Amino acid sequence: MTDTPASPSDAALHSLPKAELHLHIEGTLEPDLAFELAARNGIRLPYETVDDLRRQYDFSDLQSFLDLYYETVDVLRTEDDFAELTRRYLGTAAGQGLRHVELFFDPQAHTTRGIALETVLDGITAALDEAERDLGVTSGIILSFLRDRPVEEAEATLTAGLQRTDRIIAVGLDSAEVGYPPRLFEQVFARAREAGLHAVAHAGEEGPPAYVVEALDLLKVERVDHGIRSAENAALVERLARERIPLTICPLSNLRLRTVSDLAAHPLRRLDAAGVRVTINSDDPAYFGGYVGDNFIAVRDALGMSEEDARRYARNSVAASFASEKRKTELLAEIDAWIA
Ligand code: ADE
Ligand code: ZN
Repeated sequence: MTDTPASPSDAALHSLPKAELHLHIEGTLEPDLAFELAARNGIRLPYETVDDLRRQYDFSDLQSFLDLYYETVDVLRTEDDFAELTRRYLGTAAGQGLRHVELFFDPQAHTTRGIALETVLDGITAALDEAERDLGVTSGIILSFLRDRPVEEAEATLTAGLQRTDRIIAVGLDSAEVGYPPRLFEQVFARAREAGLHAVAHAGEEGPPAYVVEALDLLKVERVDHGIRSAENAALVERLARERIPLTICPLSNLRLRTVSDLAAHPLRRLDAAGVRVTINSDDPAYFGGYVGDNFIAVRDALGMSEEDARRYARNSVAASFASEKRKTELLAEIDAWIA
């Protein structure tokens, strides 16, 4: 009889050193902080209590989530608000093994309600600098365009963002996917890449495999965010594996937004077995029931995960990051030294 390899415990998966590459900072707004900030800024949320707000977290699809996400983001007004939001995320995620993060922010969710890009960025970077100093967590910031808003607005957002390439390392594309194909943003992405920024995009979350192909061919992305519907197209899976294109997969998000019916049916392991560089991430952890380490645990419970699988997912997250070669070497050594 052959023994099946033991699975790492919850504590082991939380201590596994890892990078998170798919995290919307606005999606880390926990209900208690939302109420705290609302009180501080004299805003009335349309919910009586923290529990009332939490009861709204029963989503039918991506749009039903985005409606709440854009509504609650209104409590974020000052640089300190963005710093506190980011600080709390980093504290929680560092407790789950986070060593490096490349986080998205959605400038248009703020500039369209009169909050300056500088306010948002200065708050986020203040907390990121603290985390590097106090927790040893390194980071990068990804400016993400809202694909369901006009392309001209994305152009203007990029122009503003190009003033801050001291901190912004990449551009991304998010929000409602179906009906807003990557090709709409071909020129915006070309300009960002010419300015030296990396490129990633959400594709194949709710949208078809053809959107993943467009993101690769037209936006020339280096990673695909979600990308799970790629699994429906064998030629695309083979291409992702051959070209070593990482997917930033978010299992609990996919479950809560019903892009998969059940975690046991999630394509993560099939993609991994086909040689695709898959990574495990939390997307919007305050809304989807878990931070990055919790997503590792959910995958272990639904799909199985040996110690070697866990190490491979963590190594993939480092290899797929935009960290310096020196930092990648350090992080890979930490993963090698991990005791499951
Ligand atoms: N914005 C925040 N989370 C998102 C997701 N999962 N998909 C698209 N846009 C988002
Ligand atoms: Zn996302």
